Amino acid sequence: MIVYFTGTGNSRYCAKALAERLGDELMDSFRFIRDGAAAELYSDKPWIFVAPTYSWQMPRLFEDFIRHGSFSGSREAYFLLTCGGHIGDAGARLEALCREKGFSYRGVMPVVMPNNYIVLSQAPSMEKARQIIRRAHPTLDKAAACIRDGRSFPLRRTGALDRLKSGPVNAGFYRFFLRANPFHVTDGCTGCGQCQDACVERNISLRDGRPVWGDRCVQCMACINLCPAQAVEYGRATRGRERYRCPDYPV
Ligand SMILES: Cc1cc2nc3c(=O)[nH]c(=O)nc-3n(C[C@H](O)[C@H](O)[C@H](O)COP(=O)(O)O)c2cc1C
Repeated sequence: MIVYFTGTGNSRYCAKALAERLGDELMDSFRFIRDGAAAELYSDKPWIFVAPTYSWQMPRLFEDFIRHGSFSGSREAYFLLTCGGHIGDAGARLEALCREKGFSYRGVMPVVMPNNYIVLSQAPSMEKARQIIRRAHPTLDKAAACIRDGRSFPLRRTGALDRLKSGPVNAGFYRFFLRANPFHVTDGCTGCGQCQDACVERNISLRDGRPVWGDRCVQCMACINLCPAQAVEYGRATRGRERYRCPDYPV
């Protein structure tokens, strides 16, 4: 079974591509995480966990979803991390998680997709995004071939810099960076509530028809990137920046 988490659709796209190639079942973790419900899932086929990369690691909320869920049947676990460029040494923590869960760790494969972190960087134009997504297809083919043949993903070489990014820098990201208070809306907000629906942390409420952010935020970028009126901003950092939504992600 292919179980995924996504903020703006990239990881769903890759999870779907694997499901099609492998004839396997697809499961969105959104509902479980949003409702704080532990998953109880069964699969004869290997578990394939697909998620974005947040600060050179799999997002903690998805790690916790796996940690607290019950995944019976197959004991094999593959991980696919979509990213804007690099996943650092994310594999080490995934391997530890597998030990904790009694999974046999079959490796992690990075898939470069358009970068959705518009707080820190420009999102690519739609044309460029489509090009990046096309270039991800051979990696998805390779991942599917490994899983189909029962082989582990190829070992990734990592160095001190990768360990620094996935270790102390990641810890600093969670400690200092995950603030929701810079989120606000401009006069373009129509009060449609899509940001509220898209928030996996239930961190957005509507007050007098306008969204207000609480203090739980994982910066999945769904609220800001999926707003149909492009009315959500993060401080001044995102002003004038393109928004990003994976082209096949339903509105
Ligand atoms: C909070 C945050 C942190 C990110 N950190 C990284 C990173 O460390 N390395 C990287 O290559 N991409 C990073 N990205 C980019 C995303 O991992 C990438 O765009 C991913 O495909 C988004 O997937 P989604 O559309 O399924 O949410 C980050 C994005 C966000 C929102």
